[in-house]
Amino acid sequence: MAGLIPREFIDDVLAHTDIVEVIDSRVPLRRSGSNHMACCPFHGEKTPSFSVNQPKQFYHCFGCGVSGNAINFLMEYEHSSFVDAVEELAQMVGMQVPKVAYDQKAQKQAPEQFALLDQVANYYQHQMKHHPQAQQVQHYVQQRGLSAEVINNFCLGFSPPGWDNVLNSIGADDEAKVQALYATGMLIKRDEEQNTPQKQHYKQQSAYYDRFRERLMFPIRDRRGRTIAFGGRILGDGKPKYLNSPETSLFHKGQQLYGLYELKQKLRKIEKILVVEGYMDVVSLAQYGIDYSVATLGTATTAEHLQILFRLCDDVFFCFDGDRAGRDAAWRAMSNALVAIKPGKQAYFMFLPDGEDPDTLVRAQGKDGFEAQMTHAMTFSEFFFDSLMQDINMDSLDGRSKLIDLSQPYLEKIPQGAFQTLMVSKLSELSEIDISRLEQLLGFSTSQRANNKSQNRKSIFTEQATYNKSKGVTREAPSPIKNAITYLLQYPYLAAQVGDPGRFMALELDHVVVFVKLLDLLQNEPNLTTARILTYWQHNEHYQYLCSLAVEPLLITDEKAINREFYDILQLLMRRLHQQRLTQLQRKLRQQGLGKSQMNEFSSLLSKLKSD
Ligand code: UTP
Ligand code: MN
Repeated sequence: MAGLIPREFIDDVLAHTDIVEVIDSRVPLRRSGSNHMACCPFHGEKTPSFSVNQPKQFYHCFGCGVSGNAINFLMEYEHSSFVDAVEELAQMVGMQVPKVAYDQKAQKQAPEQFALLDQVANYYQHQMKHHPQAQQVQHYVQQRGLSAEVINNFCLGFSPPGWDNVLNSIGADDEAKVQALYATGMLIKRDEEQNTPQKQHYKQQSAYYDRFRERLMFPIRDRRGRTIAFGGRILGDGKPKYLNSPETSLFHKGQQLYGLYELKQKLRKIEKILVVEGYMDVVSLAQYGIDYSVATLGTATTAEHLQILFRLCDDVFFCFDGDRAGRDAAWRAMSNALVAIKPGKQAYFMFLPDGEDPDTLVRAQGKDGFEAQMTHAMTFSEFFFDSLMQDINMDSLDGRSKLIDLSQPYLEKIPQGAFQTLMVSKLSELSEIDISRLEQLLGFSTSQRANNKSQNRKSIFTEQATYNKSKGVTREAPSPIKNAITYLLQYPYLAAQVGDPGRFMALELDHVVVFVKLLDLLQNEPNLTTARILTYWQHNEHYQYLCSLAVEPLLITDEKAINREFYDILQLLMRRLHQQRLTQLQRKLRQQGLGKSQMNEFSSLLSKLKSD
């Protein structure tokens, strides 16, 4: 158990640390004005929007919104614990974490345990080929249809029959090693568990015996590829079907995903990740070319799992059995996911036909067949509202108000932002209750929406807006973002004149995230056609919205006029950004005053806005 590190010590370490140095050694930074920039390590992007501010010792990504100090960075980037991160910084600056602060013993033992578990994994792999009874495991994997290649990639192995194979081969009569093996969960202490084998199984009088016997072994590796635990499947029928390492100081099930290391080794760019339930599913899927799946380790998906996955890609697919149990598991995953969904991130729910699991399905239908099933996955909001509406009569007022009651506790958990806004407006649509009234009923308001009063500039778009029929959407007002997206979709070349898309991220307007993503995409792939662009959003909640904008009739067609109009929209957005910032600074000025640099910013914003 980690103890407390004194606050003063942490401040001291931070005072001696240079965040630019810490980050630069992991993510090479380029100086740009007073900031240092890089492509954000926490979300996929091709143009840098991750900035590190040296004077403030702070990082911020304008793309995905992550920010923090050097400790936060290490925790996020290295997936380390708070104590580990402080320790690492302290080491860099030559300071010693106070001795009483945490359990140093556990820390010291970790390297030895990693080394032993790697030895065990090698040992199991070796037994798979060379043990006198290897035949039975070979027969089993053959019968399951596993290829030699995939067995090799996932380092599958064989724990031979017998109670003391690991104990003797790896423990080797060395008390310290035996203790360490015990700490990693590879050994069980005699008398400790009810299923302790009968005494006659012991040839020797050791106090320990092997946890895994006569099983096909799946090593579980952490993000650096170190073995931290195992899952073992019985060869044939019998119970328990799978045996897993217990929670140890190296292995926390709620934070680990089987196959994630292998996935990251294989793929340079991760577009999506499929979360399944079983070891065998991950391995089979990989064998058939679906190399982007991971499995939870016999636990429900946690928010931590999802945070890890969303750091790697935007789209996460959950795959469940189509039965009641599968639905329940999906609902649990959904509840845990609520707090982890961030701008631009999507979760999908996929349900398999009765009696199938990913392993059987991919074997029967191949990669294409499986991926075809994935296209039927439900979006987060579809799954959420569909499930709630199952036992509700939506034709009655009672039913619709019940939907609001049932949704309330979930919607409340979603962090304020575009996703919450989207869910609430979906609810407003379904319950046929006006959004502001709905917010009253829910007892909270979603993120600030576009304040159209400030857009007093008369634009062709005001007319355009009246042209647009609202199609089942409760509120539809002319929005500069919407106009910008419409132009970009229809004239993708316009993206080249925008500059860094990341700066628009701060705009408090609907669909800002879509706008920024679209710009990012088009700046990197300027030759996409409108139809091709839409495929990037195919599985996304905004797909319909973008489709409708893509075919929106525009009133102008002359290229020069289009350029001018688009330029005007951008100016409008910039002005809005400035106004927003100004309001922020004004508020701060009133409440606590401004520092020198903020005062400068304030007055330059003021004069900028006046001269416009
Ligand atoms: P399943 O029972 O769905 O097995 O367990 P499976 O993945 O289809 O495996 P095969 O095809 O029969 O070999 C799914 C996951 O649940 C956990 C394991 O993590 C397994 O991969 N589990 C299952 C256990 O931990 N213990 C068990 O006894 C069974
Ligand atoms: Mn199976």
